[in-house]
Amino acid sequence: MVSRSFFQRRPRSQGVLLTPYQIQEVDGVTFSDTINAFNRLVPEWPALQQRHFAKGYWWLAYLEKRPVAFAGLVPFEPLPNIGYLKRCYVNPDHHGHGLQFKLMVARELKAKQLGWTHLVSECRVNNKYSTANFIKAGFIQCEPEQPWERDSVYWVKAI
Ligand SMILES: CC(C)(COP(=O)(O)OP(=O)(O)OC[C@H]1O[C@@H](n2cnc3c(N)ncnc32)[C@H](O)[C@@H]1OP(=O)(O)O)[C@@H](O)C(=O)NCCC(=O)NCCS
Repeated sequence: MVSRSFFQRRPRSQGVLLTPYQIQEVDGVTFSDTINAFNRLVPEWPALQQRHFAKGYWWLAYLEKRPVAFAGLVPFEPLPNIGYLKRCYVNPDHHGHGLQFKLMVARELKAKQLGWTHLVSECRVNNKYSTANFIKAGFIQCEPEQPWERDSVYWVKAI
């Protein structure tokens, strides 16, 4: 007889957690409406600019055909070979599936393919979910000489 706990376990295959979500890199310009719509869900986030779409890299996480999360990676100008993890939003109905972490991994892979050497990012001091995911992804906290946001913690990773 199959025990109840068997059904409660999340399915695994060869050690890889199976997930119904699909993370896809998308063209920023083509998908700017979708990305802007996600961006507007956080009132404190400024509007994204054309250069973010044209020069950045963007991902959507889909459940079946519906986008439920997004994230971006942009060059950390004017410094060469450094990427900035820009934005990440997971629709509240889909929290707790590790989507922020998976979107970090996708962006790091892209940055490596581009030959970039470091990733930087930030989050609000009280954002314990992002903090946990940055640490899990191997980022370390740093103190910029001239912090550009209030109430933020800054993260860096050599990749
Ligand atoms: C930060 C954020 C992307 C994390 O989402 P996520 O990928 O679902 O997070 P995780 O899968 O790591 O979630 C871990 C746990 O925290 C919970 N959690 C995540 N975000 C939460 C939130 N905003 N409020 C309450 N609980 C949250 C999850 O349900 C999960 O709980 P569980 O372990 O009991 O299942 C998401 O909270 C979000 O989109 N917040 C608004 C925008 C934002 O802050 N972006 C980050 C900018 S740096």
